[in-house]
Amino acid sequence: MKISIIGYGEMAKAILKGIKDEFEDIEVVGRDEEKLKKIKEEFGVKTALIDGYDITGKIVILAIKPYALQEVSMRLKGEAQILISILAGKALFEIEKYLKSKYYLRAMPNIAAKYQASTTAITGDVEARKIGEEILSKIGEVIWVENDDEIDMATAIIGSGPAFLAILAEAISDSGVYCGLKRDVSEKLTRGLFKSFAALKEDFSDVKNKVMSPKGTTAEGIRVLEEEGIRGKIFKGIVKTYEKSKKI
Ligand SMILES: NC(=O)c1ccc[n+]([C@@H]2O[C@H](COP(=O)([O-])OP(=O)(O)OC[C@H]3O[C@@H](n4cnc5c(N)ncnc54)[C@H](OP(=O)(O)O)[C@@H]3O)[C@@H](O)[C@H]2O)c1
Repeated sequence: MKISIIGYGEMAKAILKGIKDEFEDIEVVGRDEEKLKKIKEEFGVKTALIDGYDITGKIVILAIKPYALQEVSMRLKGEAQILISILAGKALFEIEKYLKSKYYLRAMPNIAAKYQASTTAITGDVEARKIGEEILSKIGEVIWVENDDEIDMATAIIGSGPAFLAILAEAISDSGVYCGLKRDVSEKLTRGLFKSFAALKEDFSDVKNKVMSPKGTTAEGIRVLEEEGIRGKIFKGIVKTYEKSKKI
């Protein structure tokens, strides 16, 4: 199985880190010789310049900027076996328009891929599902979704989500400092909070209900957050992100 990663940016490197010891024949393809040299040194994989690169029969992971799709497609030739695009906001029909492949998949990983902790949504041709899931499981959990539109919805949650949670985490940590905690302690507590939350298996509302006791301290905090309309703001932010991903 020959895997070609087009691009050597943050996401390409995260995927490379996850798969380099799992698959034998991996090649990284890009336009800058110096950057390719660094990739070769760091990961010990083959590299190739993009101009005239033949994708025929290969599993191609497309990890370039969305706006570069057309330009990159003009530099590649041949027909891939499976093309996996991770480009935000680029629907499968657009990828199909520019690049030839027997099967197509579209995936949306997130920034935690670099720690092999991504949650990655994937969709596309079912014939390629197994291999796509196998490759992307090396950077974290993979969730199959029904169609392109669901990838755009997933983008708003798992692709952009880390940025939203970073704002929330900063606000929580700053609040701790405001109350009197040292910065490093408040940050550690906040990180611990996210780790603890990730371990909980209950429904989200169960978590809230179990922590919120009558007339308690959590109840007071929740009253304020609800009065300030935190739910509505988050709701609106996620929906707007989804809508924007349809316009890229
Ligand atoms: N970062 C995230 O959290 C995240 C999450 C989900 C999906 N994605 C998607 O992953 C893709 C890559 O994102 P990234 O964060 O890895 O970006 P990045 O670090 O900025 O890397 C961008 C890559 O695109 C290449 N590129 C840009 N224009 C090109 C052109 N005209 N011809 C050839 N190569 C070109 C760059 O090569 P040069 O260095 O030579 O310009 C580089 O390899 C994007 O489509 C993004 O939507 C990112």
